Amino acid sequence: MFDKQVYIGRRARLREKMSGGLVLILGNGEAPANYTDNTYKFRQDSSFLYFFGLNHPGFAGVLDVDSGEEFVFGNDVDMDDIIWMGPQPSVKELAASVGVAKTAPFAQLGGMLKQAVAAGRRVHFLPPYRFRNMLLIEDLLGIRHSVVKEHASLELIKAVVGLRSVKEACEIEEITKACNIGYEMHTAAMRHAKPGVKEQYIAGLIEGIAASYGSMVSFPVILSQNGQTLHNHDHSQVLQEGRMMLTDAGAEGNMCYCSDFTRTVPVGGRFNSRQKEVYNVVLAANNKAIEIAKPGVTYQHVHLEVCKVLAQGLKDLGLMKGNVDEAVAAGAHALFMPHGLGHMMGLDVHDMEDLGQIYVGYDDETRPINQFGTSSLRMGRRLQEGFVITDEPGCYFIPALIDQWRAQGLYKEFLNYDRIDTYKDFGGIRLEDDILIVPGGSRFLGDKRTPITVEEVEAMMNE
Ligand code: GLY
Repeated sequence: MFDKQVYIGRRARLREKMSGGLVLILGNGEAPANYTDNTYKFRQDSSFLYFFGLNHPGFAGVLDVDSGEEFVFGNDVDMDDIIWMGPQPSVKELAASVGVAKTAPFAQLGGMLKQAVAAGRRVHFLPPYRFRNMLLIEDLLGIRHSVVKEHASLELIKAVVGLRSVKEACEIEEITKACNIGYEMHTAAMRHAKPGVKEQYIAGLIEGIAASYGSMVSFPVILSQNGQTLHNHDHSQVLQEGRMMLTDAGAEGNMCYCSDFTRTVPVGGRFNSRQKEVYNVVLAANNKAIEIAKPGVTYQHVHLEVCKVLAQGLKDLGLMKGNVDEAVAAGAHALFMPHGLGHMMGLDVHDMEDLGQIYVGYDDETRPINQFGTSSLRMGRRLQEGFVITDEPGCYFIPALIDQWRAQGLYKEFLNYDRIDTYKDFGGIRLEDDILIVPGGSRFLGDKRTPITVEEVEAMMNE
């Protein structure tokens, strides 16, 4: 937990941004896996963590914007809990540790909210993503669970996004720790990517590295020699010489801050010349983002510039043709990169995605581009100092997509289909780093950049 002044300051800034009423921030409860007492690993709600810091199930926080009062609702443990779990701090002690003086049993939350509503006051809440909290809001406020999300407060969403988007120094420290675990996960994956090894073994190994720090993975590991499938969670293959293994994985540290890296490595430790050529195009695209991302530039612009680097590289390899700027404007490059350059990262690996991606990645000035590929860009708006984002260009040869575009005669002026067809057995490459926007530019997060050049990767794999 951070010092309590961090949470006091965040709540004060949130109250300043709100026009009035009560702000309800629900924590998460335990989630049973197969019976009540056998639960999934507890994951606190990120906004509750941000404002109230308590990584325990069954809490809610309330801010009275008008009076400035703050409350934590939760239940003290009983003797049965103490017998099974050991002594636990009281709700009062926990709340005091994050600077909140007023506490009450959870059962009193509904009464306070109903009284506020009866007095004509607005109760602001964030869109719930767990069914438990949808049902809870139905109980607390009488809004049907099926329509609860529609009643979430846009004013609160925008205020929370405004605060959480700009990372404080203490948050950067936590993200850096998660990145350092990510470094270990990825270098271990590199060292084990040998012919005959099952993908699942490596996926489990790197998940274990996160667990060995008391952490967990920040999302289910994506690891496959079929890297052309963007989010491949099937780890059933045995690695083969001549293929590449794509690993997209990160850690979520003890304070729930995340990392998210992708590396693509040649099974057995040496790239062949065709792999090396495409790899260096993706690497140039990744480096381009770091070179041009800075405060004041939109990430949509960075995305499009990176796509031009990709298209130019593929043109040099004879896979694309024609004018590169026109090809990217038309969307022809999306055959190879049908996703966006990156997303915000912080307490969530896709930071604040529960609040609505449109509010996190876009604003009145920067609107999404509705074109295949670029429409998947989660983060487009103008960058500010303190933003943490991923930089993750890729190049994939997706046989079904190639066949479909070819059959439809799409972008024939920009795509050399005959040559592209010869790459249908290639797979896919993605190279992802986590970057911090700093004055005048951007920098990598993590004490060391995970090996990324051909030489660095081969050296790590053959250590
Ligand atoms: N790295 C996984 C994702 O961004 O969804």
